[in-house]
Amino acid sequence: MFSPIQDRAPAPVGVTLPLNLGLNDGTYAPQGCIDLMRRYTERTDFRNYSSPDNAPLREAIAAADQVGPEHVFLHNGTGPILKLAIPYLLKQRVLDSPRRVLRHVVKRDGFPIITPRFTYSKVPKKAAEGGMHVDMLALDPGDDFRFDVARLERRLERGPGLVYIVNPNNPTGNLLIQRPELIPLLERFPEARFWIDEAYVQYVDPSTHEYLGNLVARYPNLLVSRTFSFAYGLAAVRIGYLLAKPSFVTELERQLTDYRLGTLQEGLGVAALEDAEHLPFIREQARLGRDQIYAGLSRIPGLQTFPSQANFVLGRFTDGRRGAELQTKLRQRGVAIKVFAPANGQSYDAYFRLTLGLPAENEFLLAQIADVLGYSAHAGLPRPTSAPSR
Ligand SMILES: Cc1ncc(COP(=O)(O)O)c(C=O)c1O
Repeated sequence: MFSPIQDRAPAPVGVTLPLNLGLNDGTYAPQGCIDLMRRYTERTDFRNYSSPDNAPLREAIAAADQVGPEHVFLHNGTGPILKLAIPYLLKQRVLDSPRRVLRHVVKRDGFPIITPRFTYSKVPKKAAEGGMHVDMLALDPGDDFRFDVARLERRLERGPGLVYIVNPNNPTGNLLIQRPELIPLLERFPEARFWIDEAYVQYVDPSTHEYLGNLVARYPNLLVSRTFSFAYGLAAVRIGYLLAKPSFVTELERQLTDYRLGTLQEGLGVAALEDAEHLPFIREQARLGRDQIYAGLSRIPGLQTFPSQANFVLGRFTDGRRGAELQTKLRQRGVAIKVFAPANGQSYDAYFRLTLGLPAENEFLLAQIADVLGYSAHAGLPRPTSAPSR
Protein backbone atom coordinates (compact mmCIF):
# COMPACT_ATOMS: atom_id res chain seq x y z
CA MET A 1 0.00 0.00 0.00
CA PHE A 2 2.80 2.39 0.84
CA SER A 3 5.55 3.28 -1.62
CA PRO A 4 8.93 4.00 -0.04
CA ILE A 5 8.51 7.01 2.21
CA GLN A 6 10.38 9.72 0.31
CA ASP A 7 9.55 12.87 2.15
CA ARG A 8 8.80 11.79 5.64
CA ALA A 9 8.48 14.51 8.27
CA PRO A 10 9.62 13.32 11.71
CA ALA A 11 6.61 11.71 13.35
CA PRO A 12 5.66 13.58 16.52
CA VAL A 13 5.05 11.78 19.82
CA GLY A 14 1.89 9.66 19.57
CA VAL A 15 2.14 9.08 15.81
CA THR A 16 3.55 5.92 14.26
CA LEU A 17 4.27 5.77 10.55
CA PRO A 18 3.03 4.46 8.22
CA LEU A 19 -0.39 5.72 9.27
CA ASN A 20 -3.42 4.26 7.56
CA LEU A 21 -6.29 6.76 7.50
CA GLY A 22 -7.80 5.33 4.36
CA LEU A 23 -9.97 2.40 5.42
CA ASN A 24 -12.12 3.85 8.22
CA ASP A 25 -10.81 1.40 10.86
CA GLY A 26 -12.13 2.55 14.23
CA THR A 27 -9.56 3.83 16.70
CA TYR A 28 -10.41 2.48 20.14
CA ALA A 29 -11.50 -1.02 21.21
CA PRO A 30 -13.68 -1.26 24.32
CA GLN A 31 -11.73 -1.55 27.58
CA GLY A 32 -13.72 -4.77 28.24
CA CYS A 33 -11.94 -6.38 25.26
CA ILE A 34 -8.50 -5.54 26.70
CA ASP A 35 -9.53 -6.95 30.08
CA LEU A 36 -10.63 -10.15 28.38
CA MET A 37 -7.35 -10.50 26.46
CA ARG A 38 -5.40 -10.24 29.73
CA ARG A 39 -7.05 -13.44 30.88
CA TYR A 40 -5.30 -15.43 28.14
CA THR A 41 -2.00 -16.36 29.71
CA GLU A 42 -1.50 -20.13 29.30
CA ARG A 43 -0.41 -22.19 26.29
CA THR A 44 -3.52 -24.30 26.75
CA ASP A 45 -5.88 -21.31 26.60
CA PHE A 46 -6.66 -21.76 22.89
CA ARG A 47 -7.17 -25.51 22.79
CA ASN A 48 -10.96 -25.62 22.51
CA TYR A 49 -13.27 -24.77 19.66
CA SER A 50 -15.83 -22.03 20.13
CA SER A 51 -19.49 -22.97 20.44
CA PRO A 52 -20.58 -24.43 17.06
CA ASP A 53 -23.14 -21.73 16.24
CA ASN A 54 -21.50 -18.92 18.25
CA ALA A 55 -24.60 -18.83 20.42
CA PRO A 56 -23.13 -16.56 23.14
CA LEU A 57 -22.34 -13.81 20.64
CA ARG A 58 -25.58 -14.23 18.69
CA GLU A 59 -27.50 -13.93 21.94
CA ALA A 60 -25.56 -10.85 23.05
CA ILE A 61 -26.19 -9.20 19.65
CA ALA A 62 -29.87 -10.15 19.77
CA ALA A 63 -30.23 -8.61 23.23
CA ALA A 64 -28.41 -5.42 22.20
CA ASP A 65 -30.43 -5.04 19.00
CA GLN A 66 -33.79 -6.14 20.45
CA VAL A 67 -34.40 -9.09 18.13
CA GLY A 68 -34.39 -12.87 18.63
CA PRO A 69 -31.09 -14.76 18.06
CA GLU A 70 -32.76 -16.52 15.11
CA HIS A 71 -32.53 -13.19 13.24
CA VAL A 72 -28.73 -13.00 13.60
CA PHE A 73 -26.31 -14.27 10.95
CA LEU A 74 -22.66 -13.96 12.01
CA HIS A 75 -19.57 -13.94 9.82
CA ASN A 76 -15.99 -12.65 9.65
CA GLY A 77 -16.96 -9.07 8.81
CA THR A 78 -19.81 -7.60 6.80
CA GLY A 79 -17.68 -7.59 3.64
CA PRO A 80 -17.97 -11.42 3.42
CA ILE A 81 -21.68 -11.20 4.28
CA LEU A 82 -22.38 -8.74 1.45
CA LYS A 83 -20.41 -10.93 -0.94
CA LEU A 84 -22.26 -14.09 0.07
CA ALA A 85 -25.77 -12.80 0.63
CA ILE A 86 -26.38 -10.22 -2.11
CA PRO A 87 -25.85 -12.49 -5.15
CA TYR A 88 -27.77 -15.24 -3.36
CA LEU A 89 -30.69 -12.92 -2.62
CA LEU A 90 -30.79 -11.53 -6.15
CA LYS A 91 -30.75 -15.01 -7.64
CA GLN A 92 -33.51 -16.13 -5.31
CA ARG A 93 -35.70 -13.14 -6.18
CA VAL A 94 -35.17 -13.65 -9.93
CA LEU A 95 -35.98 -17.36 -9.77
CA ASP A 96 -39.13 -16.61 -7.74
CA SER A 97 -40.92 -15.24 -10.79
CA PRO A 98 -40.91 -16.43 -14.44
CA ARG A 99 -41.36 -12.79 -15.53
CA ARG A 100 -38.20 -11.79 -13.67
CA VAL A 101 -36.30 -14.75 -15.13
CA LEU A 102 -37.23 -13.53 -18.61
CA ARG A 103 -36.24 -9.95 -17.84
CA HIS A 104 -33.01 -11.19 -16.38
CA VAL A 105 -32.15 -13.24 -19.46
CA VAL A 106 -33.05 -10.42 -21.84
CA LYS A 107 -31.90 -7.29 -19.98
CA ARG A 108 -30.01 -8.52 -16.87
CA ASP A 109 -32.43 -6.56 -14.71
CA GLY A 110 -34.70 -9.25 -13.29
CA PHE A 111 -34.10 -7.86 -9.81
CA PRO A 112 -31.84 -4.81 -10.02
CA ILE A 113 -29.83 -3.20 -7.25
CA ILE A 114 -31.12 0.28 -6.48
CA THR A 115 -28.63 2.43 -4.58
CA PRO A 116 -27.51 6.03 -4.11
CA ARG A 117 -24.84 7.08 -6.58
CA PHE A 118 -21.99 7.90 -4.20
CA THR A 119 -21.77 5.06 -1.70
CA TYR A 120 -19.67 2.07 -0.53
CA SER A 121 -18.57 1.18 -4.03
CA LYS A 122 -17.92 -2.53 -3.49
CA VAL A 123 -21.61 -3.43 -3.66
CA PRO A 124 -22.64 -1.69 -6.92
CA LYS A 125 -19.25 -2.52 -8.47
CA LYS A 126 -19.42 -6.24 -7.68
CA ALA A 127 -23.06 -6.38 -8.77
CA ALA A 128 -22.24 -4.70 -12.10
CA GLU A 129 -19.24 -7.04 -12.58
CA GLY A 130 -21.55 -10.00 -11.92
CA GLY A 131 -23.79 -8.82 -14.77
CA MET A 132 -26.50 -7.40 -12.48
CA HIS A 133 -28.31 -4.24 -13.39
CA VAL A 134 -27.58 -1.34 -11.01
CA ASP A 135 -29.92 1.66 -10.79
CA MET A 136 -28.16 4.67 -9.30
CA LEU A 137 -30.08 7.43 -7.55
CA ALA A 138 -28.21 10.74 -7.62
CA LEU A 139 -26.92 12.49 -4.50
CA ASP A 140 -26.11 16.18 -4.88
CA PRO A 141 -23.02 17.68 -3.18
CA GLY A 142 -24.75 21.08 -3.47
CA ASP A 143 -27.37 19.69 -1.09
CA ASP A 144 -24.86 17.97 1.26
CA PHE A 145 -25.75 14.61 -0.38
CA ARG A 146 -29.30 14.54 0.99
CA PHE A 147 -31.13 11.43 -0.22
CA ASP A 148 -34.43 12.00 -2.01
CA VAL A 149 -36.64 9.27 -0.53
CA ALA A 150 -39.59 10.35 -2.72
CA ARG A 151 -37.41 9.60 -5.74
CA LEU A 152 -36.70 6.11 -4.40
CA GLU A 153 -40.43 5.61 -3.95
CA ARG A 154 -41.09 6.64 -7.56
CA ARG A 155 -38.39 4.21 -8.71
CA LEU A 156 -39.99 1.36 -6.74
CA GLU A 157 -43.37 2.14 -8.29
CA ARG A 158 -41.82 1.05 -11.58
CA GLY A 159 -40.82 -2.35 -10.18
CA PRO A 160 -39.06 -4.04 -7.26
CA GLY A 161 -35.36 -4.50 -6.66
CA LEU A 162 -32.81 -4.69 -3.88
CA VAL A 163 -32.44 -1.26 -2.30
CA TYR A 164 -28.96 -0.94 -0.74
CA ILE A 165 -28.50 2.06 1.55
CA VAL A 166 -25.50 2.71 3.79
CA ASN A 167 -26.77 4.68 6.80
CA PRO A 168 -24.88 6.85 7.69
CA ASN A 169 -23.45 6.73 4.20
CA ASN A 170 -19.86 5.96 3.30
CA PRO A 171 -18.18 8.15 2.05
CA THR A 172 -20.51 11.14 2.49
CA GLY A 173 -20.97 10.60 6.25
CA ASN A 174 -24.62 11.68 6.45
CA LEU A 175 -27.75 9.74 7.36
CA LEU A 176 -29.71 8.99 4.20
CA ILE A 177 -32.90 7.58 5.65
CA GLN A 178 -34.78 7.64 8.97
CA ARG A 179 -37.22 5.17 10.44
CA PRO A 180 -40.40 7.17 9.64
CA GLU A 181 -39.33 7.33 5.98
CA LEU A 182 -38.34 3.66 5.73
CA ILE A 183 -41.40 2.06 7.35
CA PRO A 184 -43.92 3.24 4.72
CA LEU A 185 -41.61 1.91 1.98
CA LEU A 186 -41.27 -1.47 3.71
CA GLU A 187 -45.07 -1.69 3.91
CA ARG A 188 -45.84 -0.39 0.44
CA PHE A 189 -43.27 -2.53 -1.44
CA PRO A 190 -43.29 -6.06 0.07
CA GLU A 191 -41.78 -7.47 -3.13
CA ALA A 192 -38.71 -5.25 -2.86
CA ARG A 193 -35.83 -6.01 -0.49
CA PHE A 194 -34.23 -3.27 1.60
CA TRP A 195 -30.64 -3.78 2.77
CA ILE A 196 -29.59 -1.08 5.24
CA ASP A 197 -25.86 -1.21 5.90
CA GLU A 198 -25.45 0.23 9.40
CA ALA A 199 -21.66 -0.19 9.41
CA TYR A 200 -21.19 3.24 11.03
CA VAL A 201 -24.49 3.68 12.85
CA GLN A 202 -23.06 3.36 16.38
CA TYR A 203 -21.27 6.69 15.86
CA VAL A 204 -24.73 8.30 15.81
CA ASP A 205 -26.34 8.95 19.19
CA PRO A 206 -29.47 6.74 19.31
CA SER A 207 -31.34 9.58 21.01
CA THR A 208 -31.06 11.55 17.75
CA HIS A 209 -31.58 8.68 15.29
CA GLU A 210 -33.44 5.46 16.02
CA TYR A 211 -31.47 2.56 14.54
CA LEU A 212 -33.28 0.32 12.06
CA GLY A 213 -32.11 -3.16 13.09
CA ASN A 214 -35.01 -4.19 15.30
CA LEU A 215 -37.47 -3.62 12.43
CA VAL A 216 -36.38 -6.96 10.90
CA ALA A 217 -38.68 -8.76 13.33
CA ARG A 218 -41.67 -6.93 11.80
CA TYR A 219 -40.63 -6.65 8.15
CA PRO A 220 -39.37 -9.77 6.33
CA ASN A 221 -38.27 -7.60 3.38
CA LEU A 222 -35.70 -5.77 5.54
CA LEU A 223 -32.06 -6.78 6.11
CA VAL A 224 -29.67 -4.78 8.30
CA SER A 225 -25.91 -5.36 8.48
CA ARG A 226 -23.53 -4.17 11.20
CA THR A 227 -19.84 -4.56 11.93
CA PHE A 228 -17.43 -4.44 14.86
CA SER A 229 -14.72 -2.95 12.64
CA PHE A 230 -15.47 0.72 13.17
CA ALA A 231 -17.22 1.97 16.33
CA TYR A 232 -15.91 -1.02 18.31
CA GLY A 233 -12.38 -0.56 16.94
CA LEU A 234 -12.03 -4.29 16.20
CA ALA A 235 -11.21 -4.30 12.48
CA ALA A 236 -8.29 -6.64 13.22
CA VAL A 237 -10.66 -9.21 14.75
CA ARG A 238 -13.18 -9.46 11.85
CA ILE A 239 -16.72 -9.71 13.18
CA GLY A 240 -19.82 -8.64 11.27
CA TYR A 241 -23.44 -9.67 11.28
CA LEU A 242 -26.68 -9.48 9.38
CA LEU A 243 -30.11 -9.10 10.95
CA ALA A 244 -32.76 -10.69 8.72
CA LYS A 245 -35.80 -12.94 8.72
CA PRO A 246 -35.02 -16.35 10.30
CA SER A 247 -35.57 -18.35 7.08
CA PHE A 248 -32.96 -16.25 5.25
CA VAL A 249 -30.52 -16.66 8.16
CA THR A 250 -31.02 -20.45 7.94
CA GLU A 251 -30.42 -20.44 4.18
CA LEU A 252 -27.16 -18.53 4.59
CA GLU A 253 -26.07 -20.79 7.46
CA ARG A 254 -26.55 -23.82 5.18
CA GLN A 255 -23.92 -22.47 2.82
CA LEU A 256 -21.19 -22.25 5.47
CA THR A 257 -19.75 -24.42 8.19
CA ASP A 258 -20.24 -24.20 11.95
CA TYR A 259 -17.48 -22.94 14.27
CA ARG A 260 -17.17 -19.95 11.96
CA LEU A 261 -16.01 -17.42 14.52
CA GLY A 262 -13.25 -18.53 16.86
CA THR A 263 -13.39 -18.35 20.63
CA LEU A 264 -11.42 -15.11 20.69
CA GLN A 265 -13.67 -13.40 18.17
CA GLU A 266 -16.72 -14.61 20.04
CA GLY A 267 -15.40 -13.50 23.43
CA LEU A 268 -14.24 -10.10 22.16
CA GLY A 269 -17.60 -9.48 20.51
CA VAL A 270 -19.49 -10.24 23.72
CA ALA A 271 -17.08 -8.14 25.80
CA ALA A 272 -17.49 -5.23 23.37
CA LEU A 273 -21.26 -5.30 23.62
CA GLU A 274 -21.15 -5.55 27.41
CA ASP A 275 -18.93 -2.48 27.81
CA ALA A 276 -21.57 0.20 28.41
CA GLU A 277 -19.06 3.07 28.51
CA HIS A 278 -17.55 2.42 25.13
CA LEU A 279 -20.05 3.84 22.62
CA PRO A 280 -20.64 7.17 24.46
CA PHE A 281 -16.84 7.51 24.67
CA ILE A 282 -16.17 6.90 20.97
CA ARG A 283 -19.08 9.15 19.92
CA GLU A 284 -17.47 11.99 21.84
CA GLN A 285 -14.02 11.17 20.42
CA ALA A 286 -15.45 11.12 16.88
CA ARG A 287 -17.18 14.47 17.43
CA LEU A 288 -13.90 16.02 18.63
CA GLY A 289 -11.96 14.43 15.79
CA ARG A 290 -14.38 15.69 13.14
CA ASP A 291 -14.25 19.21 14.61
CA GLN A 292 -10.45 19.02 14.55
CA ILE A 293 -10.46 18.00 10.87
CA TYR A 294 -13.07 20.59 9.87
CA ALA A 295 -11.17 23.36 11.65
CA GLY A 296 -7.83 22.33 10.10
CA LEU A 297 -9.19 21.98 6.55
CA SER A 298 -11.18 25.22 6.75
CA ARG A 299 -7.86 27.10 6.72
CA ILE A 300 -7.01 25.74 3.29
CA PRO A 301 -8.54 27.62 0.36
CA GLY A 302 -10.13 25.73 -2.52
CA LEU A 303 -11.36 22.90 -0.37
CA GLN A 304 -14.82 21.93 0.85
CA THR A 305 -15.88 19.43 3.54
CA PHE A 306 -19.24 17.79 4.19
CA PRO A 307 -21.08 17.24 7.47
CA SER A 308 -20.36 13.72 8.75
CA GLN A 309 -21.88 11.69 11.57
CA ALA A 310 -19.26 8.94 11.31
CA ASN A 311 -15.52 8.41 11.88
CA PHE A 312 -14.46 9.96 8.59
CA VAL A 313 -14.79 13.23 6.71
CA LEU A 314 -15.29 13.66 2.98
CA GLY A 315 -13.38 16.50 1.34
CA ARG A 316 -13.56 17.98 -2.14
CA PHE A 317 -11.29 20.32 -4.04
CA THR A 318 -13.27 23.15 -5.59
CA ASP A 319 -10.38 24.58 -7.61
CA GLY A 320 -9.60 21.75 -10.02
CA ARG A 321 -7.04 19.90 -7.88
CA ARG A 322 -7.41 16.13 -7.64
CA GLY A 323 -7.76 13.88 -4.63
CA ALA A 324 -5.31 11.40 -6.19
CA GLU A 325 -2.52 14.02 -6.18
CA LEU A 326 -3.05 14.66 -2.49
CA GLN A 327 -3.10 10.90 -1.87
CA THR A 328 0.21 10.39 -3.69
CA LYS A 329 1.94 13.21 -1.81
CA LEU A 330 0.66 11.99 1.55
CA ARG A 331 1.65 8.41 0.75
CA GLN A 332 5.21 9.59 0.23
CA ARG A 333 5.06 10.88 3.80
CA GLY A 334 3.71 7.60 5.14
CA VAL A 335 0.01 8.53 5.40
CA ALA A 336 -2.74 6.70 3.48
CA ILE A 337 -6.07 8.34 2.64
CA LYS A 338 -8.93 7.23 0.40
CA VAL A 339 -9.76 8.53 -3.07
CA PHE A 340 -12.40 7.27 -5.48
CA ALA A 341 -12.08 5.63 -8.87
CA PRO A 342 -14.68 6.48 -11.51
CA ALA A 343 -17.71 4.25 -11.05
CA ASN A 344 -20.82 3.62 -13.13
CA GLY A 345 -20.03 6.45 -15.52
CA GLN A 346 -19.33 9.05 -12.81
CA SER A 347 -15.96 10.47 -11.85
CA TYR A 348 -14.99 11.53 -8.31
CA ASP A 349 -11.58 13.06 -9.07
CA ALA A 350 -12.00 16.05 -6.77
CA TYR A 351 -12.86 14.00 -3.66
CA PHE A 352 -10.86 12.42 -0.85
CA ARG A 353 -11.87 10.81 2.44
CA LEU A 354 -10.00 11.11 5.73
CA THR A 355 -10.52 8.54 8.49
CA LEU A 356 -10.32 9.99 12.00
CA GLY A 357 -7.38 8.81 14.08
CA LEU A 358 -6.05 9.73 17.50
CA PRO A 359 -5.90 13.52 18.17
CA ALA A 360 -2.12 13.57 17.55
CA GLU A 361 -2.59 11.61 14.30
CA ASN A 362 -5.30 14.02 13.11
CA GLU A 363 -3.01 16.94 13.87
CA PHE A 364 -0.15 15.29 12.00
CA LEU A 365 -2.44 14.56 9.02
CA LEU A 366 -3.64 18.18 8.90
CA ALA A 367 -0.10 19.51 9.08
CA GLN A 368 0.97 17.20 6.23
CA ILE A 369 -2.03 18.17 4.09
CA ALA A 370 -1.36 21.87 4.63
CA ASP A 371 2.28 21.36 3.81
CA VAL A 372 1.88 19.29 0.65
CA LEU A 373 -0.76 21.72 -0.63
CA GLY A 374 1.58 24.62 -0.03
CA TYR A 375 -0.03 26.19 3.02
CA SER A 376 1.42 26.65 6.46
CA ALA A 377 -0.78 25.27 9.21
CA HIS A 378 0.56 27.86 11.70
CA ALA A 379 -1.37 30.61 13.42
CA GLY A 380 -4.75 29.41 12.25
CA LEU A 381 -4.52 31.58 9.13
CA PRO A 382 -4.02 30.53 5.53
CA ARG A 383 -0.42 31.45 4.70
CA PRO A 384 0.62 30.33 1.25
CA THR A 385 4.26 29.22 1.35
CA SER A 386 4.19 28.69 -2.41
CA ALA A 387 1.47 28.64 -5.04
CA PRO A 388 -0.94 25.78 -4.32
CA SER A 389 -0.19 22.93 -6.69
CA ARG A 390 -2.92 22.14 -9.20
C1 LIG B 1 -20.43 0.60 4.37
C2 LIG B 1 -19.52 -0.54 4.62
N1 LIG B 1 -20.04 -1.77 4.77
C3 LIG B 1 -19.25 -2.83 5.00
C4 LIG B 1 -17.89 -2.71 5.10
C5 LIG B 1 -17.07 -3.94 5.38
O1 LIG B 1 -16.63 -3.93 6.70
P1 LIG B 1 -16.17 -5.23 7.50
O2 LIG B 1 -15.99 -6.32 6.49
O3 LIG B 1 -14.92 -4.86 8.19
O4 LIG B 1 -17.29 -5.55 8.45
C6 LIG B 1 -17.30 -1.46 4.94
C7 LIG B 1 -15.84 -1.30 4.97
O5 LIG B 1 -15.29 -0.28 4.62
C8 LIG B 1 -18.14 -0.34 4.72
O6 LIG B 1 -17.65 0.90 4.58
